[in-house]
Amino acid sequence: MSKDQVIIFDTTLRDGEQSPGCSMNLEEKMKIARLLDVMGVDVIEAGFPIASPGDFEAVHEIAKEMKNAVVCGLSRAKMADIESAGAALKPAKRPRIHTFISTSPSHMKYQLKMTPDQVFEDVKASVTKARSYTDNVEWSGMDATRSDLDFLCKCVEAAISCGATTVNIPDTVGFAEPEEYAQLIRDIQNKVPNIDQAIISTHCHNDLGLAVANSLAGVKAGARQIECTINGIGERAGNAALEEIVMALKVRGDIMPFQTNIDSTMITKMSRALSTTIGFNVQPNKAIVGANAFAHESGIHQDGVLKHAETYEIMTPESVGLTKSNLVLGKHSGRHALKEKLKELGYELGDNAFQDLFSRFKKLADQKKELHDDDIIALIEDEVATEHDQIQFVALQIQAGTEGPQVAELTLSIEGENKKVKTEGNGPVDAIFKAIREICPHDGAHLQLYQVHAVTGGTDAQAEVTVRLEEDGKTVNGQGADADTLVASARAYVHALNKLMVKRQKTKPKEDAA
Ligand code: KIV
Ligand code: ZN
Repeated sequence: MSKDQVIIFDTTLRDGEQSPGCSMNLEEKMKIARLLDVMGVDVIEAGFPIASPGDFEAVHEIAKEMKNAVVCGLSRAKMADIESAGAALKPAKRPRIHTFISTSPSHMKYQLKMTPDQVFEDVKASVTKARSYTDNVEWSGMDATRSDLDFLCKCVEAAISCGATTVNIPDTVGFAEPEEYAQLIRDIQNKVPNIDQAIISTHCHNDLGLAVANSLAGVKAGARQIECTINGIGERAGNAALEEIVMALKVRGDIMPFQTNIDSTMITKMSRALSTTIGFNVQPNKAIVGANAFAHESGIHQDGVLKHAETYEIMTPESVGLTKSNLVLGKHSGRHALKEKLKELGYELGDNAFQDLFSRFKKLADQKKELHDDDIIALIEDEVATEHDQIQFVALQIQAGTEGPQVAELTLSIEGENKKVKTEGNGPVDAIFKAIREICPHDGAHLQLYQVHAVTGGTDAQAEVTVRLEEDGKTVNGQGADADTLVASARAYVHALNKLMVKRQKTKPKEDAA
């Protein structure tokens, strides 16, 4: 590895996925992992195998399939965790075990209830154990930025002596400031005698909005791995955002002469795939991937950009994959044009899914004059996500307006059999959701989120709806897209319900399932 190369370690599927509302099922994790692999992420942290059978399975399946990236599984400094990570990673071409333990006084005293000496012993034992599965071992000192420097250095040295090849210095609670974090990385390089045998990694949380700045400061000070997530998702205020890190290094190569293996033209697609999967829309003014990131509204800015793009654009929209397509679809476009568009957008669909998509595309093209790429992507994502669902949305008629009652007449297909009900509600959305509950009772589940997002501008824009259901502390997100917001709402709820049923099936005790 050249000394200017920065390893991009993506933890969207672990730190990101463990944050509220971001949980994904296996299929969704596979989809995100495949995109990360193609995008050029060096290390994919695929999950925390001991945490749940679902996490184990995800790490195992991702480990089987990834062609380029190192696949990493997280473990505490416990033997059972490391064994579980080792087993989950068995099929990986390039496995990494990431083992961590807290090193700060408050974590050791109040959370672990361990003395520093006990923690030190566990550092050595955990790394040694992890090395018995793979020679690619990462060690993290959790809450490193609030740890005693000498103790942290002692642990880092021991981890490296026992075989850790990457040592991670997490700013777990997002407390650090860039110069302070850079100094910590320099101190570790100066005080740990065997530091040249390992790569130093950053892992910064965004509680003070400094995660990206801290990560870059860490790299300037000598770290050569950055842990980050797509759209910056993660615990609390999130992790450092991958897209911001990558583009900052690319655009400011003059003062940060470092390279990554990331194909930045995949950033927009990746960001969008994640936000539709988990129902987390990025804020419009979010750097790099927000809807306004390349929009120039003020007269002076527009004038400048029209005269010469560089006046107000420090990077091109194309460099992050925001391209203006030559192929604009409308109601006269046929199957061939839609197939070409899918190819251009990087999607491959089976025959049945393509036929369904084509019918929905034709219907949408009748309602909207011009279909933008975002419209097509919303339709595809919806189609792919619901293709194998047991309960399918069929039809909806609504009676709404100032004179109640609002009534929904809904038809769903359950394993091929149509069921129809007519229900009243406090507003049309309430009526629809009640109708779904009447056809498929699911009393234990609660609606946690109902969110509507317009895919494009204009009053004829497609609505993309997210519904989050919660049952026994577990959440699922469903998505639906349609030019009719109420149809999109019904589709999203039905999608969430399908996912809930799959989740129930998977978590059913074995004797029950027999
Ligand atoms: O924030 C943190 O400290 C972590 C560790 C598990 C690396 O996520
Ligand atoms: Zn973290």
